[in-house]
Amino acid sequence: MNVIALNGSPRKKNWNTVSLLEHALAGAASQGAETELVNLYDLQFSGCISCFACKRVDRKVRGVCAVKDDLTPVLERIAKADALILGSPIYYGTETAAMRACFERLCFPYNPYAVDGHCEFGRVIPTALLYTMNVPEEMIDSYGYRPHFAFMQRMLSAHFGPCEVMLCTDTLQYSDYGKYESAKFDGNAKGKRREEVFPQDCQRAYELGSRMARPLAG
Ligand SMILES: Cc1cc2nc3c(=O)[nH]c(=O)nc-3n(C[C@H](O)[C@H](O)[C@H](O)COP(=O)(O)O)c2cc1C
Repeated sequence: MNVIALNGSPRKKNWNTVSLLEHALAGAASQGAETELVNLYDLQFSGCISCFACKRVDRKVRGVCAVKDDLTPVLERIAKADALILGSPIYYGTETAAMRACFERLCFPYNPYAVDGHCEFGRVIPTALLYTMNVPEEMIDSYGYRPHFAFMQRMLSAHFGPCEVMLCTDTLQYSDYGKYESAKFDGNAKGKRREEVFPQDCQRAYELGSRMARPLAG
C-alpha cells in the first residue's frame, strides 16, 4: 500500500495544510502503508496546455499527460499509487494555483471522452481532499464554498475512487497577529484555536489517513 499526498500550500513546514497532510500520512503509515509527501511549490510545472494529445485517436499511451516537466514523475507515481490525498489552502474560494494546475494535469488524461465513458485510470483507489481556510465553519455556506467542494469530490470520485472531504476552518494565518494588518481578525482567538482545536483537526486527519490505508470494502 502506497499513499501519496500533494501539498498545495506554498508553506511547507508546520503550517496548516502540510501539518494535516503529515498527520494523514502518519495515520496511513500506522496501517503499514508507505507514504510520500509532495510539495507542489517545490516543482516547476504548468497546468493543462490544451494540446489534446491525451485524446488523440492514434495516441500510443492512454491516461498519460504529454506535457513533460517536474510534475511528470509525480503523475507517474500517482498512476501506481494505492491512495491519493490532495491538500490545499483555500485562496479566493478555491484551491491554490499550483493545486489547480496539478489537478488539471492529473485528471484530464484520464477523463473519458469515449462513448463508453470509462475512466482511463482503470483502478479504484481511495482519495481525499483536505482544505484549510481562514473562514470559520459557520461562514462556509454564506461564502458559497460548498458547491466547489462537492464538485471536486465528484471529480476525484469519478476519476480515481471514493473521496472523503475534510475541512479545517478558522486557521491561524500568521503566528503574530500584532505584526500584520489584522483588524478584521481576533489574533488571540486565532491563537487559542490553533492551540486547542487544530490538534483535533490533526487527529481527524490522522484517522482519515488510517482509514484510507485499509482495504476498500467490496
Ligand atoms: C492569497 C490568499 C488568499 C486567501 N483566500 C482565502 C479565502 O478565499 N477564503 C479563506 O477562508 N481563506 C483564504 N485564505 C487563507 C488561507 O486559506 C488559510 O490561511 C490557510 O489555512 C493557509 O494554509 P497554510 O497555512 O497551509 O498555508 C487566503 C490566503 C491567501 C494567502
